[in-house]
Amino acid sequence: MRIILIGPPGAGKGTQCQRLVDLLKVPHLSTGEMLRAEVKARTPDGIVAASYMEQGQLVPDPIIVGMVSRRLQSPDCRHGCLLDGFPRTLPQAETLDDLLERRAMSVDGVIELAVPRDELVRRMLARGREDDDPEVFEKRIASFEVQTAPLLDYYARQGRLASIDGLGTSDQIFDRVKAAVRRFEQATRAR
Ligand code: AP5
Ligand code: MG
Repeated sequence: MRIILIGPPGAGKGTQCQRLVDLLKVPHLSTGEMLRAEVKARTPDGIVAASYMEQGQLVPDPIIVGMVSRRLQSPDCRHGCLLDGFPRTLPQAETLDDLLERRAMSVDGVIELAVPRDELVRRMLARGREDDDPEVFEKRIASFEVQTAPLLDYYARQGRLASIDGLGTSDQIFDRVKAAVRRFEQATRAR
């Protein structure tokens, strides 16, 4: 299964992906985690990426697409993967479709985790990651609304979107996620 998780910062994409890894036995690809590793290792891409991440802005598409396409070619991704935080722009989504199509693969389903802004802020303050500064966080939310939210329509039109209420306990949300995955499995079989 190839599943994308979309949601604003703090929606619980990483939390739910960790649980899905155990269920589906496919790798978890988080572009945020990959970028933080590049930043930590001070690679050329990491140095460029840091200047955007510190501002709560999206890292330029060429860096992201290069990173993801290399990762998608690894043997462990052959039977599927969880994409967390990618794609985040329409060009990234179109590039992903091309990359997969060339390998006779496709996205099985897209899960939207919907969480109101006041809860996102509450979670962000409780966590305190480097980019969880309140001012930067506002910019991350704005970038989600402007650049990433249009993807919901893109995947809805393909009939691949499952929108899930991201409020509740992690267990409650995981039950909703599992129900969406079962629907994706049925839809994929029918295609
Ligand atoms: P990224 O690392 O993807 O950050 P994000 O999208 O802002 O999302 P978060 O990781 O903050 O939240 P999450 O949805 O994973 O929630 P989590 O499970 O951690 O990206 C960082 C930056 O990298 C971007 O700003 C951008 O600059 C760059 N970038 C990344 N991908 C890119 C791309 N494709 N293109 C361009 N740039 C890119 O949960 C949040 C907190 O809430 C945790 O503390 C968790 O324990 C808690 N929590 C989880 N679930 C619940 C619950 N049900 N109830 C209460 N608390 C909960
Ligand atoms: Mg995350």
